[in-house]
Amino acid sequence: MQIMKTEFNIAVFPGDGIGPEVVAEAIKILKIIESKLGLKITLNEAPVGGAGYEATGHPLPDATLDIAKKADGVLLGAVGGPKWETIDFSLRPERALLGLRSSLGLYANLRPARIFPALVDASTLKREVVEGLDLLVVRELTGGIYFGEPRGVGTNDKGERHGFNTLVYSEPEIKRIAKIAFDVARKRNSKVCSVDKANVLEATGFWREVVTGLHSQYSDIELSHMYVDNCAMQLVRNPKQFDVILTTNMFGDILSDEASMLTGSIGMLPSASLGEKYAMYEPIHGSAPDIAGKELANPLATILSVGMLFKYSLEKEEPNVWIEKAVEKVLGQGVRTADLMSDGMKQVGTKEMGDLVAAELEKMN
Ligand code: IPM
Ligand code: MG
Repeated sequence: MQIMKTEFNIAVFPGDGIGPEVVAEAIKILKIIESKLGLKITLNEAPVGGAGYEATGHPLPDATLDIAKKADGVLLGAVGGPKWETIDFSLRPERALLGLRSSLGLYANLRPARIFPALVDASTLKREVVEGLDLLVVRELTGGIYFGEPRGVGTNDKGERHGFNTLVYSEPEIKRIAKIAFDVARKRNSKVCSVDKANVLEATGFWREVVTGLHSQYSDIELSHMYVDNCAMQLVRNPKQFDVILTTNMFGDILSDEASMLTGSIGMLPSASLGEKYAMYEPIHGSAPDIAGKELANPLATILSVGMLFKYSLEKEEPNVWIEKAVEKVLGQGVRTADLMSDGMKQVGTKEMGDLVAAELEKMN
């Protein structure tokens, strides 16, 4: 008989802005599941982003990275804020996030965009366009233009100042992310749409070629290709045509923000960033410094990220289902955070939303 692991170690990096508020609510949920399943989860909190910079002079302190490497999974809030916008690029809070992704080898970013039935009318799009929406953006996360060299700001041969970045993808980088997309599609609706700009950018023409090559091993999966501009348009025209969207780092960044609005708010989208050895979970939204500390932030994306953490890092499937059910229950009661407010709904703060989900979760068995 296989002995199930019951002790885990989770790294908690609240970060900046609304990060600490939404992470606090997510931890409430994590603790309820811990006791429901009789687990022992040790939480190790550390500063990252602007908080890391304030504490140590670097947005990704060595000690923080160390904690991440010793954990079974990382739960992250958000990083960034106006306070650090003028410091050197290499010390900006965002570098911590990119540093974590690359140091931990988190090349596969899964961003599910599912609409909760209670939120069908919260989307800016018509009910019939979004009702039943369930798509997954598989974003490459450690390559492409985000990491390509050379990069920088300098002076060209004409003596003019210029800025430059490099879009580059190697065959192994494309293959491993495409494999993830095909494999997850098998557990969903068996459709992958690979998004590129193959008509203009050689690097993504190559991407298309490699994805097509790998597809020969996945004859049960329906593969299509789409240019990114068309995909941006199709996402608001007819988003339900998509099952899995496989794309590059930058296109995935943009398209996942767009996809989030189909579900009512960017405050609803969780994510999992997976590599061979490590994994990190975070809401796709940013640190929203303008609303920080005002009980206006929506904690649901981070709470839903906890569900993904249990599923992918702790190999426990039920908590994700429970959390989704609890969220649907609460939204079904007409309760909304500010970002989702509409006529006839009751507005609640960040903490209250967390408490309501926690209460629903406690009732389940
Ligand atoms: C995201 C964010 C990050 C990204 C930023 C904060 C570096 O927008 O996770 O989508 O661009 O990847
Ligand atoms: Mg983004």
